[in-house]
Parts: sequence; C-alpha cells; structure tokens
Amino acid sequence: MIDIDFLNMPDRDIRELQVLFSEEEIDKRTQELADMIDEEFPQDEPLYVISILKGSVLFTCDLIKKMKTPIQLEFIKVSSYGNEFKSTGDIKIIDSKIPNLNDQNVLIVDDICDTGNTGKTLLSIFKDEYHAKKLKFVTLINKRCNRIVDIDPDFYGFEVDDKFLVGYGLDYIGFYRNLPYVGWFPA
Ligand code: IMP
Ligand code: MG
Repeated sequence: MIDIDFLNMPDRDIRELQVLFSEEEIDKRTQELADMIDEEFPQDEPLYVISILKGSVLFTCDLIKKMKTPIQLEFIKVSSYGNEFKSTGDIKIIDSKIPNLNDQNVLIVDDICDTGNTGKTLLSIFKDEYHAKKLKFVTLINKRCNRIVDIDPDFYGFEVDDKFLVGYGLDYIGFYRNLPYVGWFPA
C-alpha cells in the first residue's frame, strides 16, 4: 500500500542546503578508501561487497569502481527505523539472498555510521551466521558523537558532528539521495 505522506515533497528549500563535502572531495576521499581497502584484502581472493540499501548505493558504486580487488557485489536491505532521524537497536536483514559466505572475505558498505546499531548488528550476523573469514566495515560518514554501541567503522571517509545530512545516498524522507554532494540544512 502506498503511504500518501511519503509522496509529499520535503518541507526544506534546497537553496538553504549547505554543502559539507563536495563531489570532488568525495571522489578524492573515495579513492583513498579504495586504496586502503585494496591493501587490506588479498588480491587473489574474491571480496564480497555487501551494500546496504538504499543509502550506500552511490558510495558503493563509486568505491568499487576505484578498487582493484576482485569483487562480488550483493545488496541487502535492513529494517529498523524508529523515525526518519534515528535508527533503533532492532536491526534485521530483509530482502536479501546472500550466498554462502563461509570462509569468504566480506566488506560491509554503509552510507553513515550513526548510533552504530546497524554496523554492530551486521558485523555480528556476518561473523556468527555467515562465518565470514575477514570482515571489514566501511562508511562514507562517521558520526561518532552519536554512537550508542561500541563499534567504529574500519574505514570511513569523513567524520561529522551531530548534523542530519542529506545527499550522495543520504535521504530525508526518501529525498535528496541523488545530490552528488553531502550537505545539511542549518536550522
Ligand atoms: P545507525 O544504525 O544509527 O548507525 O544508522 C545507520 C543508518 O541511519 C544509516 O544507514 C542512515 O540510513 C541513517 N542515518 C543516520 N544518520 C543520518 C543522517 O544524518 N542522514 C540520513 N540518514 C542518516
Ligand atoms: Mg540507510
């Protein structure tokens, strides 16, 4: 069933959006992350890149284009949203057909690590249930100030303070994901 509220346009004026990380900065930093990830994983073994829908799609595509490690790409969707601003601790994988990852190298890719709930839950699922061999977690943004569980991405692009960000995959009620930069709306 279609949620009518979801079809409403966001109430913010795009002209008020302040750019935090430009397209060029993101591109440069993504290349650095790709190089670090290539260093971390063996080049003669497949790496399963697990992209978390929908927010990490833009980052994942740009990241893997810059990597040399041979990859297999998988997408998963996780359920958990308290409201449109905060995730809850109750994270579940939905809509996924993950192959047998026993003894495989795995990289989990998300747009942002905020409370840490998503990262922590997925890392334990891929370790304990999927038995990944080497398992790493990369996010474009690290909002460490909001962390409520004990976890930090192995690699991240940029650290930010407590701002709600949009763009380059990050959304507000589903909008703004297609902006090529990351920004925020000052109050
Ligand atoms: P965590 O589970 O709290 O670490 O949050 C991860 C998810 O929360 C991300 O994948 C985003 O979907 C969402 N999120 C957290 N902060 C922001 C933000 O500033 N803008 C948009 N989405 C966010
Ligand atoms: Mg998300």
